[in-house]
Amino acid sequence: MFKNLLAIENFDVYFVIGIIIFFSLLETVSGFLKNSNRKKDDWIQEILSFVILGNLIKPLIVFFVFSLGNIFLPEYRFVLTDLSFTGVLLGYLLVDDLLQYWYHRTAHENPFLWKLHRPHHQAEEMGYLISYRNAFIYYFLMPNIWWVALILFLGGAKPVALGLILKQLVIIGSHSRIKWDKPFYKNTLLLPIIKILERIIVTPTFHHSHHGTSKLEASSDPNGNFGNMFSIWDQLFGTATFHSTYPSAYGLQEKTTDSWKASYFYPLVKSKDKKSELSAGFKKHNTSTLSSITVPLTKGENYLWCACGKSKTQPFCDGSHHGTKFKPQKFTVKRTGDIKLCNCKKSKRTPFCDDTHLNLLN
Ligand code: FES
Repeated sequence: MFKNLLAIENFDVYFVIGIIIFFSLLETVSGFLKNSNRKKDDWIQEILSFVILGNLIKPLIVFFVFSLGNIFLPEYRFVLTDLSFTGVLLGYLLVDDLLQYWYHRTAHENPFLWKLHRPHHQAEEMGYLISYRNAFIYYFLMPNIWWVALILFLGGAKPVALGLILKQLVIIGSHSRIKWDKPFYKNTLLLPIIKILERIIVTPTFHHSHHGTSKLEASSDPNGNFGNMFSIWDQLFGTATFHSTYPSAYGLQEKTTDSWKASYFYPLVKSKDKKSELSAGFKKHNTSTLSSITVPLTKGENYLWCACGKSKTQPFCDGSHHGTKFKPQKFTVKRTGDIKLCNCKKSKRTPFCDDTHLNLLN
């Protein structure tokens, strides 16, 4: 039966569309659509992005790789067909996901890539279509799409087709509002299963945390959990955090009103919202100073100290660190009162001031 399935032409396309229809029906039946705050621009961008990715960007990349391959590597055209199906499937998936992990992580740390990925994090509620919400150039630069094209050229079409189905099942499932892993955390018998599973694949809890608005909330880690299909890369490279609850707020700290055209076609189209990173001439300014800032703090409360030096609400984080390698530092204080926090960003005991700025004044 499995062989018959693989023999169907484009069976991966049917399955991926089936997965999307499945999650869309589940979200609709569960009443999410009725209670949704999504705007027309959200729908346009996400549907357009999904359609163009499958019908234009991927075929173009495949065409390009095949053309180059036929010129420079014709003798390798079907080199994978004699290898084991499972071996090619695993090799394809692991390399694909490792490439995507680093691309995704870089998109959070590089200013230009961040602007292409930013629309993905602008969404203030989760949903199956969020999976495809990025600027179109983001997909052209995505290394794992080029990797897929290469494996196809080498003759790995069937393992790739099955791999794509498995991957989309995990990715769409982890973006959906259907939190399929929730019951596992509530049931002591099921808990060990999810504890093992979340160490291997990306679950809704793991990925929703990445979409959470602020690290102030215990279940949110917008600067971590970059994995797409497997959570192993985050564990290997020190960016994993595991939770058993979901964020109460999704999206970016600073709210802007960008049209779908600006979000999808940036940098060809710029946002009219001057506060937006996607607007023409937008710049993040250095707001660190050679001084400390004294602020009233309360014992037991959580705060986020700005480490990047670009926040407009110093010494606290306002989300301006996106597109840099910096992350805010979460902290609490032992006493209520006025506390001197570092604003030169060079203190050796951040977030507190240790007078390092006095040395920098000379
Ligand atoms: S604004 Fe978040 S670390 Fe600076």
